[in-house]
Amino acid sequence: MENKSIVIGCDHAGLILKQKVAAHLQERGFDVIDVGTHTAESCNYVDFAHAVCEAVRNGKADLGILVCGTGIGMSIAANKHTGIRAAACENTFSARMTRLHNDANVLCLGERVIGYGLACDMVDLFVDTEFLGGRHQVRVDALNSLD
Ligand code: RB5
Repeated sequence: MENKSIVIGCDHAGLILKQKVAAHLQERGFDVIDVGTHTAESCNYVDFAHAVCEAVRNGKADLGILVCGTGIGMSIAANKHTGIRAAACENTFSARMTRLHNDANVLCLGERVIGYGLACDMVDLFVDTEFLGGRHQVRVDALNSLD
């Protein structure tokens, strides 16, 4: 089976955590597409949310991960894209549940909020958990109808 492909992006405030999460996913054998930013120079998280969402929307990647200072700006920007269900999470339960119930396709993390170990556990749950469907599909369909 072909490896899952994960697209990852960040702003300057999420750079270090993004690099660590990307390395973790590569070590696990995922194809990782890094859309930047690649330097600590101040930039706008909206641009990188857009790049990640486009890669998910056009099928270049199966799932996306976005990292900024809080994860919040990235999630607000990502959720403005048709077909994107982005979740800003701060714990493992939420990272797993947002796949199971919301079929979230983008996980947003805050480098100023969580540590590397927790972030990698959350990312593992996010990429390894499948959507439950069933009654949750009806709700996701309703969400999608708002696009
Ligand atoms: C950058 O200072 C910070 O505002 C950004 O990374 C993010 O946390 C916004 O939500």
